[in-house]
Amino acid sequence: MEKALSGIRVLDMTHVQAGPTCSQLMAFLGADVIKFEPPTGDVTRGQLRDIAAVDSLYFTMLNCNKRSITVNLKSEEGKQVFSDLLKVCDVVMENFGPGVLNRLGFGWETVHEINPRIVMASIKGFGSEGPYADFKAYENVAQAMGGSFSTTGVPEGPPLATGAQIGDSGTGVHLMAGILAALLQRESTGRGQFVECAMMDCVMNLCRVKFRDHQRLEHGPLPEYSRQEFAGFTPRAGNDSGGGQLGNAIKCAPGGPNDYLYIVVQEHVWPALAQRVGGDALAADERFATIDVRRRHQATLWQLLEDFAAHHSKWELMDILNAIDVPCGPIMSTHDLVNDEHVKLRQMAVTVPDAGRGEFINVGCPIKLSDSPVEVTPAPLLGEHTDEILGQVLGYSNERIESMRTAGAFPRGRPQAA
Ligand SMILES: CC(C)(COP(=O)(O)OP(=O)(O)OC[C@H]1O[C@@H](n2cnc3c(N)ncnc32)[C@H](O)[C@@H]1OP(=O)(O)O)[C@@H](O)C(=O)NCCC(=O)NCCS
Repeated sequence: MEKALSGIRVLDMTHVQAGPTCSQLMAFLGADVIKFEPPTGDVTRGQLRDIAAVDSLYFTMLNCNKRSITVNLKSEEGKQVFSDLLKVCDVVMENFGPGVLNRLGFGWETVHEINPRIVMASIKGFGSEGPYADFKAYENVAQAMGGSFSTTGVPEGPPLATGAQIGDSGTGVHLMAGILAALLQRESTGRGQFVECAMMDCVMNLCRVKFRDHQRLEHGPLPEYSRQEFAGFTPRAGNDSGGGQLGNAIKCAPGGPNDYLYIVVQEHVWPALAQRVGGDALAADERFATIDVRRRHQATLWQLLEDFAAHHSKWELMDILNAIDVPCGPIMSTHDLVNDEHVKLRQMAVTVPDAGRGEFINVGCPIKLSDSPVEVTPAPLLGEHTDEILGQVLGYSNERIESMRTAGAFPRGRPQAA
């Protein structure tokens, strides 16, 4: 079946998490993604392994629906293969450290000269210019420098990393938007272009509302924050809702680490919520009559809700509150999520066959297109499609492949992950 990105061929040199997130999404949407790996493979094949000599989940969960070719780009023949692939691909993507591609002889000008229609997409920690441009980056470095750490955690505690991989996967999603826009613009210009996403920039984009609060501070304190102490920058907000409504994570029975329900006390649901939790007395209590006074008394409000929640599990409380239209959500553990009926129905926890481990669960594609359904297929073994790609995509003869292999362009036999 035709998919949204059928006919788009991606030369994917990306490694670790940020780039592969982008190329996997493109592969889910139907692009032919050729993962171009060094002879030792993407380093994550061997990182955080749970089964000896089997590609790690770190790798398999980010590289489904792709083909793999292993080529030594530090050999002349390897450079020739890369150059030939550039001519027949629509997109080339990379997230190497600063300067790596230039050292290999394939900066943007060269790539554009080889194929003027190709879109070149690049992730760097800090982009290609500016005082930080020469620095490498990982997830938490980007979270630290993009404003996420300083605004995450409780005010009295240290800055914290968020569990969501906003620096890596967040940047990968941004990059896909850039690539698709460049492909669309190519329709009218006939020309490819260079697309760059810096991890620090993308984290800042995802922290946008924190810069809203930073500027509001010029005009006085931020009433929605439960701690009214400000020092000229947006503070850590704990579990405060961060929006126009009050909210908090309310502890439920039986009191385990994730037995909490996040409740948003939307202004117009307060009368029904107050009635359900505290009857006529709470519904008539002047301390909670409007959002302004409720903000001032929010510590008491949360305590009242926790007293009520102590008699209910997070699931029971969710049912009680959804029945009166209160926006709320249980704090779901990874165990809750992979076993959740809604998640399964949405194909967000999908079972994928795997040569080495039998099968594993991958997070599905969160972008749902009515004319381009996603089928998640296994991640490739290292170099699994080397000969197939050289023959089918580049039209190399067996003799040519063999002589290039002898010259050291690609490994002999099935390469093993390091
Ligand atoms: C993630 C990161 C810190 C890893 O750093 P690193 O392990 O030192 O790796 P680099 O990307 O700097 O270098 C990769 C090397 O592999 C080599 N290489 C890559 N593909 C190759 C191939 N097919 N054949 C031969 N060599 C290859 C490169 O030439 C480079 O070698 P060099 O240092 O001799 O130039 C770095 O890549 C980075 O900052 N990337 C940008 C930000 C990013 O995406 N970070 C998040 C990752 S989730």
